Amino acid sequence: MAHGEGGRTIVVSNRGPVTFTRGESGEREHSRGAGGLVTALNAVLRRAENAVWIASAQSEEDVAVSKEPAPYEVEDLRIRLVEHDPASYDLMYNELANPLLWFVQHGLYDLPYSPTLGDETRRAWEEGYVPVNRNFADAVIETAADEDSPTILLHDYQLYMTPLFVRERLGAGAFLSLFVHIPWPEPDLWRVLPHYIREGVLESLLSADVVAFHTHRYARAFAETAADVLGAEVEGGVIHYRGRDVWVRAYPISIDPGEFEDLASSEAVLEEERFVRGLPGKLLLRVDRTDLSKNVVRGFLAYGRMLERHPEMKGEVTFLAQLQPSRTDIREYAAYMEAVGRTAEEVNEEHGTGSWRPIELYMEDNFPRSVAAYKNFDVLLVNAVRDGMNLVAKEAAVINEKNGVLVLSENAGAHEELGEHALTINPYDIDEQAEAIHAALSMPEEEREIRAKGLRETVRSNTIEDWVEAQIEDIEAYRELQG
Ligand code: G6P
Repeated sequence: MAHGEGGRTIVVSNRGPVTFTRGESGEREHSRGAGGLVTALNAVLRRAENAVWIASAQSEEDVAVSKEPAPYEVEDLRIRLVEHDPASYDLMYNELANPLLWFVQHGLYDLPYSPTLGDETRRAWEEGYVPVNRNFADAVIETAADEDSPTILLHDYQLYMTPLFVRERLGAGAFLSLFVHIPWPEPDLWRVLPHYIREGVLESLLSADVVAFHTHRYARAFAETAADVLGAEVEGGVIHYRGRDVWVRAYPISIDPGEFEDLASSEAVLEEERFVRGLPGKLLLRVDRTDLSKNVVRGFLAYGRMLERHPEMKGEVTFLAQLQPSRTDIREYAAYMEAVGRTAEEVNEEHGTGSWRPIELYMEDNFPRSVAAYKNFDVLLVNAVRDGMNLVAKEAAVINEKNGVLVLSENAGAHEELGEHALTINPYDIDEQAEAIHAALSMPEEEREIRAKGLRETVRSNTIEDWVEAQIEDIEAYRELQG
């Protein structure tokens, strides 16, 4: 990674680190992209000299930036934006990657009824997903043009076909990895996909040198799927396929604790803290995108069940749900936002009083408020159906000042590291969640303290720098082995 023998580092993700706009006086402005992935990739870039980050142009001004020949330099980053044909991008994002791949990998389908696949799926693949991936590959190849051995780090499920297209052109000299930031399902679920996607994606991923995940469980499931669907040979963490060795690895992503400590004392967060502290009773918190995988509806039902069973808790707790709207053009997501709103209303109607609203629901992008709530929660609910990692659990744990208790889904990637200090729940079981929420709210201080300390120390023992370091070590080892 710009260390040792490796050439220039090229990082590629669909969502980029910044979005550009035109200010009122006509000058170019930019805002930082939100989300854990973007923060994490910043840490990668800090370690690599002369690295370039390639991402999709999202705004009109992004498209203007994409037409400029040299990478755009902003805040120590060198960014190259890729313009896609809008219709292709729409098919990739709204028809293929987010409904289909995301749903399969998070186990969100109601399989007796959905998905219904057909010619439309093939069209979304051929006219959307594949051309968008070719575009990414072209940008990589152009950026790597004068390099013998570039290090190319591709990220996530929007880019599954890019390794194949890059490998075809750059050959064996390029180091190529693809980091899957979402869960990998068991082989039978992967077989829900039509064969051209099922096999096409696997063939492409196996043309990389390293395929990476956040947990060992996903890495194992991937190797099993490759064996099951392609007949690849698996030996420990190595897949042998078509004469090549592909390493399958788990690197649990993390955060930069210092960044969150700084944020915690920022003006915007202190301002929001006044609101958060004004909420009645103990604070039960969730912070998520409005994604079906986050399991918001069952979380509200579980909370309602808890109030029913423990009526003495009424007025003694407020559930703050801070939800960032996401992928709102996709039918399932729009319907889910409605279901979330409806369920919150039902719980509030059933249990609320004139002076107390059980659930405070905000479907808005308000990061300072989320950070303010991280500092002040008594209980944090992370009950995802499945989640690649869930960085909220880590972010909140390091800056919480109340010895807050984490109620954590056994299917969140974070459970592999944080599970022993959390109250573990099955995301489908609302009674178990109700009892876990109650147990967390009524836990003696001594136990809260031990658990909160365990969470903090675990996060601090594997920070984002460690995540980057572990990957660099493997890249160097892989290169050495290949001679
Ligand atoms: C998850 C995915 C990322 C994605 C992010 C936000 O974390 O792993 O690849 O960028 O969600 O989703 P969006 O569709 O808004 O980029």
